[in-house]
Amino acid sequence: MKIRSLSFLTVVFVLLAFTANAQLTGSAHDFHSLTWNTSGEICLPCHTPHNGSTTLSDAPLWNHAATSSTFTLYSSGTMNATMGQPTGVSKLCLSCHDGSVALDSYGGTSGTTYVTGGTNFGTDLTNDHPISISYTAALATADGELHDPTTTLSGLSTTGNIDDDMLFGTAHDKLECSSCHDVHNSGNHGGLLVKSNAASALCITCHNK
Ligand code: HEC
Ligand code: HEC
Ligand code: HEC
Ligand code: HEC
Repeated sequence: MKIRSLSFLTVVFVLLAFTANAQLTGSAHDFHSLTWNTSGEICLPCHTPHNGSTTLSDAPLWNHAATSSTFTLYSSGTMNATMGQPTGVSKLCLSCHDGSVALDSYGGTSGTTYVTGGTNFGTDLTNDHPISISYTAALATADGELHDPTTTLSGLSTTGNIDDDMLFGTAHDKLECSSCHDVHNSGNHGGLLVKSNAASALCITCHNK
C-alpha cells in the first residue's frame, strides 16, 4: 500500500516535470538512467513527496543526505559583504558538490558514488564566487559598483527585481548558488545557468561594471 501510493505520487511529480520543466530531462541533473540511481527517477535523488528531510533550511521536500562539512571561505580586501558558512539552498548543492556525501545517499540510504573532477568543489571555496551573503540596497550603496537589488530588474521575469527572482531566504536577500544556477535547467541556457552569460550578461545583472 505504502509503496503503491509513493510510486503514484512519483508519477505525478514526473508528469509535472514534463509539462513545466522539460529541460531538466537530458540535462546534467537528469540522473534517471545513471547506474547509481537505482530508482530510475529524475526528482527522487533530490526530492520526495513525503517524509522530506527538515535538517536543512530552504530545502523543499528534500530527500538527499546533508553535508556536514566546514568550508574555507572566499575572502578579499575589497569585499563589503560579510562572509559566513554556506546556508540555505547552497548547502543543498554542496550536499553533492563538496564530494563528501554520495550522490546515491538519498531516501535514507547510504551510497558510494561521488561527484568527481571539476564539479567536485571540495571544502575549499576560497576560489569561488562568494555565496550565502546578504545582498541588500545598503550593500549596493556601500560597494558603489553593484546594482540596487530591490529596484533593478533581474531580466528573468517581466517585473521581478533581482531580490524577487535571484535572492533567497525569508528576507529575499541571500545570494546563493541558485542566484546564478537553475538546478532544473528551466531556461536551457547551458551550464545550468539562470540566464545566458553571453557578453557576461549574468554578471552585469548585479555588477555595475
Ligand atoms: C539535483 C537536485 C534536484 C533535482 C534532480 C530536482 N530538484 Fe527540484 N529543487 C532542487 C533544489 C536545490 C531546489 C531549491 C530551490 C532552487 O534552487 O530552485 C529545488 C526546488 C524545487 C521546487 C520548489 C521551487 C520551484 O522551483 O518551484 C519544486 C516544485 C521542485 N524543485 C520540483 C522538482 C521536480 C518535480 C523535479 C523532478 C522533475 C525536481 N525538482 C528535480 C533540486 C533538485
Ligand atoms: C543529488 C546530487 C546533486 C545535487 C543536490 C546538486 N547537484 Fe549539480 N550535479 C550533480 C551531478 C552528478 C552533476 C554531473 C557531474 C558530472 O557530470 O561530472 C552535476 C552537475 C552540475 C553542474 C554542471 C552542469 C553542466 O552543464 O556541466 C552545475 C552547474 C551544477 N551541478 C550545479 C548545482 C547547483 C547550483 C545545485 C544546487 C542548487 C546542485 N548542482 C545540486 C549532482 C548534484
Ligand atoms: C555568481 C554566479 C555563480 C554562483 C554564485 C555560483 N556559480 Fe557555479 N558557475 C557559474 C558560471 C557562470 C559557471 C560556468 C557555466 C558555463 O559556462 O558552463 C559555473 C559553473 C559551475 C559548475 C561547473 C564547473 C565545471 O568545471 O564543470 C558547477 C558544478 C557549479 N558552477 C556549481 C556551483 C555551486 C555548487 C555553487 C554554490 C556553491 C555555484 N556554482 C555558485 C556561476 C555561478
Ligand atoms: C545575483 C547577483 C550577482 C551575480 C549574478 C554575480 N555577482 Fe559577483 N558579487 C555579487 C555580490 C553581492 C558580491 C559581493 C560584493 C561585495 O561584498 O563587495 C559579489 C562579489 C564578486 C566578486 C568579488 C569582489 C571582491 O571585492 O572581492 C567578484 C570578482 C565577482 N563578484 C564577479 C562576478 C562575476 C565574474 C560574475 C558572473 C559570472 C558575477 N560576479 C555574478 C553579486 C553578483
